[in-house]
Amino acid sequence: MKVVLAYSGGLDTTVCIFLLRERYGFDEVITATVDIGLPESELRRAEERGKRYADRHYTIDARKEFLEAIHRLIKANGDYEGYVLGTAIARPIIAEKVAEVAISEKADAVAHGCTGKGNDQLRFENVFRQYNFRVVAPVRELNLTREWEIEYARQHGIEVPATKERPYSVDENLWSRSIEGGNLENPAFIPPEEIYEWTTSPEKAPERPEVIKISFEKGVPVAVNDRELEPFELVRFLNEIGGRHGIGRTDMIEDRVLGLKARENYEHPAATILITAHRDLERLVLSRRELKFKKIVEEEWAELVYYGLTNDPLYEALNAFIDKTQERVTGWVKLRLYKGSVMPVARGSEFALYSEELVSFDTKAIDQKLSEGFAAFHGLQGRIYQRLKRERL
Ligand code: ARG
Repeated sequence: MKVVLAYSGGLDTTVCIFLLRERYGFDEVITATVDIGLPESELRRAEERGKRYADRHYTIDARKEFLEAIHRLIKANGDYEGYVLGTAIARPIIAEKVAEVAISEKADAVAHGCTGKGNDQLRFENVFRQYNFRVVAPVRELNLTREWEIEYARQHGIEVPATKERPYSVDENLWSRSIEGGNLENPAFIPPEEIYEWTTSPEKAPERPEVIKISFEKGVPVAVNDRELEPFELVRFLNEIGGRHGIGRTDMIEDRVLGLKARENYEHPAATILITAHRDLERLVLSRRELKFKKIVEEEWAELVYYGLTNDPLYEALNAFIDKTQERVTGWVKLRLYKGSVMPVARGSEFALYSEELVSFDTKAIDQKLSEGFAAFHGLQGRIYQRLKRERL
């Protein structure tokens, strides 16, 4: 019996390799690590561990697919309740790649290391079940705790990244880094600086602000400071600059799909910079009504992504709308980065619906007197109501 395990090299999935043999009786455990823009060292560590502990290991490059997902997300200004979707956009891609391995290996089952409390089980399985695979989820099925897993690893001499002192569950990809668990589960506890790896604390960030320019073409970032960059490099570069300025930390209470509230900590410097810039450019080029309606679409979009329901036909329909709006989201935005904050300070576009000629205090292109009639009608019903209220209520 053969199983393919979605493998990150972390505590859960490493312990799973052993449990799949010991508790489920699989005689062949194959690990598959999917590269969604992991730091090189992380990827090598997962690969090394997979090769050491599993019967066979695959490392699959899905950076291209992941970048497409990031571009989709930027166009949709994707965030769920204030969480810049990161893990959520990676999961379906990882699941697809793992399923492909399982198909070519003619495996009897696929496995993941998700708990029964989070969202990731839902995101993985929605893809796995599409292929009618038997799904094995040891952490959920055996009702394991991180503490138990750390102890199990110790007893069996298995090398894992988590320790009793630092039991954090970390998930990272090119777009964001998420840290959960241990004392962070107490929402009243202020996280120690040690949980952050991508960002310096705003206090320690440079004393001088830095202004950067981001250029977009049809909603997709293409250049920084007028230098065209490969999509991958562009995100990496902004993670670095933003991280240096302490930009893109989130500490929040989040509503999981199951209904559980969770305390979440994230780092995502490039995401914060790019979405802030993209939103600003949209305000310049989209109409008032487009902006208002797109907000509703974005909320629906983010929820589908968060829930792992991107196979729903609604997702395609929303993307079609978003892509239509992005045809004119071409231009640039300058942002000031300073001690954890990112602030748009200038912008420009050939598609701007802005007219300096019309709006300026100093021009006469519009005869101001024309507005007098508008002002006479504006708020009419409210004025009538206020009078009625005074006289009749
Ligand atoms: N709350 C995020 C989500 O549901 C991240 C979950 C994974 N994070 C982790 N540290 N294991 O998308």
